[in-house]
Amino acid sequence: MDTKRAYIDPEHPDPAVLHEAAALLRAGELVAFPTETVYGLGANALDAEACARIFEVKGRPQDNPLIVHVSRPKMVDEIIAHWTPAAEICARTFWPGPLTLVFPKNERIPDRVTAGLNTVAVRMPDHPVALALIEAGGLPLAAPSANLSGRPSPTTGSHVWEDMRGRIPLILDAGSCNVGLESTVLDVSGDVPVILRPGGLAKEDLEKVLGPVELDRPSVTGVPRAPGLKYRHYAPRGEMYVVVGPKDHVLDRMSEEIKIGRYQHKRIAILCTLESAPQLQLEQPDLLYVLGSRTQPQEVAASLFAGLRLCDQRGMELILAEGFDEGGLGLAIMNRLDKASGHKVIRV
Ligand code: TXA
Ligand code: MG
Repeated sequence: MDTKRAYIDPEHPDPAVLHEAAALLRAGELVAFPTETVYGLGANALDAEACARIFEVKGRPQDNPLIVHVSRPKMVDEIIAHWTPAAEICARTFWPGPLTLVFPKNERIPDRVTAGLNTVAVRMPDHPVALALIEAGGLPLAAPSANLSGRPSPTTGSHVWEDMRGRIPLILDAGSCNVGLESTVLDVSGDVPVILRPGGLAKEDLEKVLGPVELDRPSVTGVPRAPGLKYRHYAPRGEMYVVVGPKDHVLDRMSEEIKIGRYQHKRIAILCTLESAPQLQLEQPDLLYVLGSRTQPQEVAASLFAGLRLCDQRGMELILAEGFDEGGLGLAIMNRLDKASGHKVIRV
């Protein structure tokens, strides 16, 4: 299949391009589009066959449900059984934004979308192109991240091109995503809201309006309540370790690991903060990728997946990443680093 990559200005999305994309979606085709978190691979959420194609194209496990994207809260009414007070507060406060809410579903949403669950995950993305596309099609869009299953989520049009070229008819390329990590998935159906996947909206921000929020910890409970979390994800091809602890200890350990890797003739990449870069540069790794300043976690979040992809592009065999505190966005950053490394976290 020929894939068209249409560049689209996020400030002034070209109506002709949106029209073309909407027509493809209505005809049951897939279109990749930008959101503020990561790029999505969209299909008409009410079309079971189109949604089945998403799983084929990504190589996605069949039991991993999709998030449905809407442009107005009213659209949610058409696909859910009912709102809860917590869901209303969240939608009012954080939509459009990097928060996905899990609702009891109604019969209009095909089982294909929810992988047979009786709940449906919904979010309103904070990106002018995503919102305009949903409006142009007049359809809710089921969309997972637009990467091949297992790879880091795409945060630029080029990442989507890398993974989806030849597999879908159209990619809307609006450059980089601001948030860079996927949305926080929150189950608001019970008495206490539960974060099923930490993401671009911090737990602390949710707690300001909801009171205490729980965190589903699959490492403790065994089975994650967001089915997608049991799969290996974000993994670069090289062997990856995350080093966590006081800065001096982390730097010493990373320097030591670089020396060992060099002795083994490995191509070595470092993912680190701006603050640690000067010292680690002295060890001359093959790639030194600065994630951002430790004081600006949103910079780190926005650059992380691009860094992991760069390691693959440059053929890195050993990847050492500096760890972060788990407050604020740090929780989601550490969640992605943990998964990307296959849980190889070294505490020093
Ligand atoms: O930011 C995002 O959320 C991006 C953009 C494109 O919106 N989308 C995204 O989708 O990350 P995906 O498919 O890569 O991840 C969706 C996650 C999976 O872990 C899935 O298991 C979980 O949400 N999920 C979806 N529906 C669910 C449901 N009904 N109950 C529990 N978890 C659900
Ligand atoms: Mg994904």
